Amino acid sequence: MPIEQPIDQYYVIGNPVKHSLSPQIHKDFAAKTGQIMHYEALEICPDNLEQTLNVLRLDQAVKGLSVTLPFKEELYRYCDKLDDLAQEAQAVSNVIINSKREFIGLNLDGLGLVNDIKNNLNISLKNKRVLILGAGGAAKGILGAIVRENPESITIANRTKEKAYNLVARSTNSVVKLNACALNEIAGVFDIVINATSASVAKENLPLKLNNFASGALAYDLMYAPNGTVFTTWCQSHNIQAIDGKGMLLELSKIAFQHWRGVEIK
Ligand code: ATR
Repeated sequence: MPIEQPIDQYYVIGNPVKHSLSPQIHKDFAAKTGQIMHYEALEICPDNLEQTLNVLRLDQAVKGLSVTLPFKEELYRYCDKLDDLAQEAQAVSNVIINSKREFIGLNLDGLGLVNDIKNNLNISLKNKRVLILGAGGAAKGILGAIVRENPESITIANRTKEKAYNLVARSTNSVVKLNACALNEIAGVFDIVINATSASVAKENLPLKLNNFASGALAYDLMYAPNGTVFTTWCQSHNIQAIDGKGMLLELSKIAFQHWRGVEIK
């Protein structure tokens, strides 16, 4: 009797994770490309993360993971191998689990963001003045991919000023000029303003000033919400083009799907 192969299984892991759009995105990709696979959300209690990962490692059907808050940095420590962007960010957004059951950690957050800005919004980052609000895991995750686009400068502004300075200090091999400042001391004018704080989750406003936005600036929130975020709403109320992170998620999911299944999503 032929042995039945289990169907390849993928999970988005996080806490909370039930509002994630990833299961629907990957189900749509699978249907579009005729791939037979399962993709589900798996909420993990932080105390049980390592134990759960060890169980997933032993389950031959599990071929990959998407990683969301608060586990991106823990996965960086858990993975057996890392790509350059995950290594630089010290955070992992997606995992490939190979036939040796090794966990290969990738960080696709920055590539997803850059692809959305370039390919969907038709805005180049080259020679632009970029402002990143926040210096936590989300900011670290996008920095490497933005540097590779050769903007004129990148300024990192954070509520806790020291964290912005630390992020700049550890990016020693950046070919782009990096600046750091406190969130309430931002000086200068910027073409692209990226909200990488988690303020939108708590529905909190940031201390933004209109004179930091160049005319025709793009405001981008890495977070997403059904009707936009507090940040995108504030920007739009001041006639600044603003979008939330749904496009970034879609773009990074395309790259992850291609790694996992070997087929391109057009
Ligand atoms: P994440 O992985 O989402 O980046 P994090 O590492 O905890 O999560 O970082 C959260 C970021 O959002 C930090 O830059 C944080 O600023 P602090 O370093 O000063 O804590 C920022 N942040 C969160 N809530 C904020 C708020 N209400 N106003 C301004 N910044 C906020």
